[in-house]
Amino acid sequence: MQTMIGVIGGSGVYQIDGLEGADWVTVDSPFGAPSDAILTGRLGGVPMAFLPRHGRGHVHTPTSVPYRANIDALKRLGVTDVIAVSACGSFREEMAPGDFVIVDQFIDRTFAREKSFFGPGLVAHVSVAHPTCPRLGAACAAAARAEGITVHEGGTYLAMEGPQFSSLAESRLYREVWGCDVIGMTNMPEAKLAREAELCYASVAMITDYDSWHPEHGSVDITQIVATLTGNADKARALVARLPGLLGPERAPCPHGCDRALDHAILTAPGA
Ligand code: ADE
Repeated sequence: MQTMIGVIGGSGVYQIDGLEGADWVTVDSPFGAPSDAILTGRLGGVPMAFLPRHGRGHVHTPTSVPYRANIDALKRLGVTDVIAVSACGSFREEMAPGDFVIVDQFIDRTFAREKSFFGPGLVAHVSVAHPTCPRLGAACAAAARAEGITVHEGGTYLAMEGPQFSSLAESRLYREVWGCDVIGMTNMPEAKLAREAELCYASVAMITDYDSWHPEHGSVDITQIVATLTGNADKARALVARLPGLLGPERAPCPHGCDRALDHAILTAPGA
């Protein structure tokens, strides 16, 4: 099987550099229109597809992002491996703004989004006990290290609905009681949908701030986030450019079974 890398770019990441044969293609999905056209091309001999999560011009809120259409469109293009790049706040002193975290767990507190491709008439329950692909996450961590980025391998991401940031009480709850490491607004239901679509999914979370718990940093401020994002986006693009070399053009079945997630998940009888 051929590798095709899909990159979902978050705030500040609206394109990737150096794609051969770069072309913005419009992909139709029965789940509606994706956030934007998808930039396709090849990097280091590996096909790539890039989708700006919020659309060019940043038109989608975390709630209005068409998560199902985005994942479906990447699947239709032949993507095998999805790298989700997104901004996040940190709950850990040692996870500082500018650092990257390869997220491996989520707590999903979102509530106003379509979260499944399945429903009445076709019922399926996939496992998201391990919602990210360790093989893909390890490649992202290696790419980050090769770029000299401070990267933390493993971390729990609290997915909040937004668009407002957390209150101080929420920030303390997530950090002190729930043991979360980072917080963001977009990786859920994206990771769940990728699993339903049998795509490997890794989350590269770029820390922009300390949320509101930190006594020396006060509350989150979008101007501070944007300033950190500008530096982070350059690092994220450099990380992505290393992935074709690390993943290679040929792809074996996922050792963790991400690409077989539906094998025992569908309950509805054929023809029912
Ligand atoms: N994205 C970047 N920083 C964030 C924060 N503190 N909370 C939620 N989403 C974020």
